[in-house]
Amino acid sequence: MQSTKLNAQITAVGMYIPEKILDNKYFEEIVETNDEWIVSRTGIKERRKMENGATSDMAAYAILDLLKSTSVKPEEIDVIIVATVTPDMFFPATACLVQDKIGAKNAWGFDLSAACSGFLFALQTGASLIESGRYKKVIVVGSDKMTSISDYTDRNTCILFGDAASAVLLEPTEDLNMGLIDTLLFTDGSGKDALNMKAGGSLNPASHETVDNKMHYIYQDGKAVFKVAVKGMADISYEVMKKNNLESDDVAYLVPHQANLRIIDATANRMGISKDKVMINIHKYGNTTAATIPLCLTEYYRDGKLKKGDNLILAAFGAGYTWGAAYLKWSID
Ligand code: COA
Repeated sequence: MQSTKLNAQITAVGMYIPEKILDNKYFEEIVETNDEWIVSRTGIKERRKMENGATSDMAAYAILDLLKSTSVKPEEIDVIIVATVTPDMFFPATACLVQDKIGAKNAWGFDLSAACSGFLFALQTGASLIESGRYKKVIVVGSDKMTSISDYTDRNTCILFGDAASAVLLEPTEDLNMGLIDTLLFTDGSGKDALNMKAGGSLNPASHETVDNKMHYIYQDGKAVFKVAVKGMADISYEVMKKNNLESDDVAYLVPHQANLRIIDATANRMGISKDKVMINIHKYGNTTAATIPLCLTEYYRDGKLKKGDNLILAAFGAGYTWGAAYLKWSID
């Protein structure tokens, strides 16, 4: 029997933003920096810090927020994919903790580690489970507590990151011109030395020495990453647009990962997309790693700026290196 072809579409969204705000003034007091440098070099004005809870808590809050907007019950969820590089623990997977916290008693799940490209990688993975016909309700949540691995004496990195979570629900549609239509995803492990957290894994297990040498924090060679990120994200976004015969006028929004406003601007320029068609939240939240893209989608949707059928290009670049872009047709009224 010929099985029906399916696409995965986003049918609900949700988010969680911690209350505590760290503004640029806060960083002026703890490291040698200033508001003007941070805003002009990155676009960031504020970020959030999760004070009472971990990555699984933020993910669970985001999913519960999502569920409030639907008639879907937690026990109907088939799969939970948590994109994160700041899991609560090495094991069990954060997805297990989230499953328990939201009462999704019939779900299985796993964590996916692709840093700032985590949401895109998880979105494609979740969509494949839907397209197989085997699963009907897949939650993809990007959740990162970046403040837990930020060195607040290193001005190169501590000003960049914040905490947040955001989730989408994927469900099948027989309309193959709806939902996730195409993705291009890549990894290049030769970029491992430019952006990483060196210790805590099997290569450098935790020891007094790894703690003394600050090896449990984010390390980034900003200049090196900037160079590849700016080209990588712009090229892949342009490529996915062209591959799907889209002109810039056909695109309702570019939804870029929020690492640096200059990288976002370069991507929009390459695609010929004007600033008003680029989703931005970096000024409010900084780089929230796997949460940036679904957070943008959730906030713009709730602000009434997205309508069913809108063509969206999602794009990301992150540690690994990992990068990719997706063509998504928005499917919520
Ligand atoms: N405040 C003031 N000065 C700072 C600073 C801060 N918070 N952080 C760094 N500087 C200094 C540097 O020490 C350097 O000083 P020096 O020239 O005396 O050595 C100077 O500013 C310029 O540093 P540079 O690295 O050239 O800055 P930049 O313009 O590249 O901006 C980043 C730095 C991190 C914002 C930028 O490189 C970046 O966004 N990189 C890519 C991030 C990314 O995409 N990551 C992937 C996904 S997470």
